[in-house]
Order: sequence, then structure tokens, then C-alpha cells
Amino acid sequence: MSTILDGKATSNQIKEELTQEVNALKASGKRPPHLAAVLVGNDGASLTYVGSKVRSCEKIGFDSSLIRLEDTVSENELIETINKLNNDTTLDGFIVQLPLPKHINEEVVLHAINPDKDVDGFHPTNFGKMALGMETFIPATPFGIMELLRRYKLDISGKHAVVIGRSHIVGRPMSILLSEKGNPGNATVTLTHSRTQNLAEITRAADIVVSALGVPNFVTADMIKQDAIIIDVGITRVPDENHPKGYVITGDVAYDEVKEKASFITPVPGGVGPMTIAMLLQNTMLAYKRNAL
Ligand code: GUN
Repeated sequence: MSTILDGKATSNQIKEELTQEVNALKASGKRPPHLAAVLVGNDGASLTYVGSKVRSCEKIGFDSSLIRLEDTVSENELIETINKLNNDTTLDGFIVQLPLPKHINEEVVLHAINPDKDVDGFHPTNFGKMALGMETFIPATPFGIMELLRRYKLDISGKHAVVIGRSHIVGRPMSILLSEKGNPGNATVTLTHSRTQNLAEITRAADIVVSALGVPNFVTADMIKQDAIIIDVGITRVPDENHPKGYVITGDVAYDEVKEKASFITPVPGGVGPMTIAMLLQNTMLAYKRNAL
């Protein structure tokens, strides 16, 4: 039986800390931090995530702006919007919610964001700094996982960490952060992906598994070692007629069986997801401090 890594409670704690910081800023006559989000199109999941980011800003006293563009918007029009945000001195940071429609080149768009306002940490300048262990905006999901490990005082130094999935947003930066000097850190990392052979053999040798694959219930109990730490980044909408929304959010990990074998485990929902939002807010506070203080 494992201990739940409660991302919801931990994110609420971080938001509470940020609220106090914002209140102190306002009390001394300063403006609050300001985050903007650009959302292209009407994808249901993206709408939910961006809505949640904006609501979280409001909750902790940040200013927030939501810029919505039609899914037919051209790449040039999107770049124009980004340039405006780059030059908006009332704005500390902004994000462009991914994925983008197929006719828009994601790389071109991410490169157009001023690295000083790139609170997602996706610009090559920030990704490079992160990889070199320099202070910068760290992508919110891997940052949130590191923060969860830190607050639960889980020591991963010298342990074998296995990351499933090599995305630029989660898997790749996760593998770098876990191996970096620091606490948490100093893990021996294996980054696995769709071409990996004998995956189950590799995960069975892991002291910590981070799954960022997007395949519901992929990680089963037979794939993990007794007392491993299990971090589930999956948030797939699985159709379910019995649910009012018509779907259930399902993680990569077969939770019910894996929780019997793991030492610590993140639930879905309520694990990594809320931590992602908290760390985006934290990155925005960092941008503000560089900018306005
Ligand atoms: N899509 C999925 N996760 C993220 C994220 O962290 N940031 C942005 N901008 N888009 C995403």
C-alpha cells in the first residue's frame, strides 16, 4: 500500500504562499504579476487547462489575460499577437497553449516568444539554460514533479529513475532535471521512448518511474519494482457514457494495482496536473521579480 503524493494539496500550499507574496506587494503599492495565455481554436482539453490557469491567477491575485484566436488564424497573425505581448510592458509572462493547429509551425511560434516572458520555458534559450543548471523558467510539468519530490522529501540521489516518453514539454526536460546536481536530483536516468526495447525490463529496474506517454493504464503492476516511486503525467480523456461529462480523465498508470506495490504514487486527477499550474504561477512570479522589482 503506497502513500499518495497529493498534488492538489501541495499546489494549494504553493498558491497560498504566492497569495501572501502578492498581498504584500499590493500592500506596498506595487502592481500584481500579470500572466497572459494565448489559446488557438476550441480543443476541449486545452480550453479546460487554459481556463484553469486563468482561474488560478484570479484566485491568488495575479492579473490575467486570455487571448483567444480562431483555429483558422494564420501563422503570421499568431506571430503578430506574440510580438504585441512581447512588447506589452504591463505583462510579465505569457504562454501559447499547445498543441497548435497543424498549419502552424510550433517551433516558429515558440521561437518568437521573448525568452524573458517565456514562463513555459519552451524557448531554446530557456531550455538550454535549464539543461546547464542555470536559473531560468523550467517547464511547469517537470518543475512541478521536482517540487512534489522536494516537498515530500523523497531522496532520489543515486537512484535509478526511468522516464517514459521523450516529449520536449515533459519527458526530455524531466530526464535532465532528475540527473542534475541538487536535491531532488543526482538520479541515474534512463529516458525511454517508442523505440525502446524491453521497456518492462527497464521499468522493473527503476526506483522511480515517471510516465509521460498518454496511453491510459499502460504502466501495470508487473512492470514495476516493489516500493518504487510512481509519477503519472498521463491525462487522457477516455469516453465513458456513465460519466456526466461523457469521459473520465485517465492516467498512464493502472492505479488500483500499481498503488499496492509502489511506495509513493501520484493520483490522476489530483497529482501532477495541479502542480503544473502552481509552477506556471511560480514562473510568472519569477518573471515579475526580474521585471518589476
Ligand atoms: N499543453 C500541454 N501542456 C502544456 C504546457 O505546459 N504549456 C503549454 N503552453 N501548452 C501545454
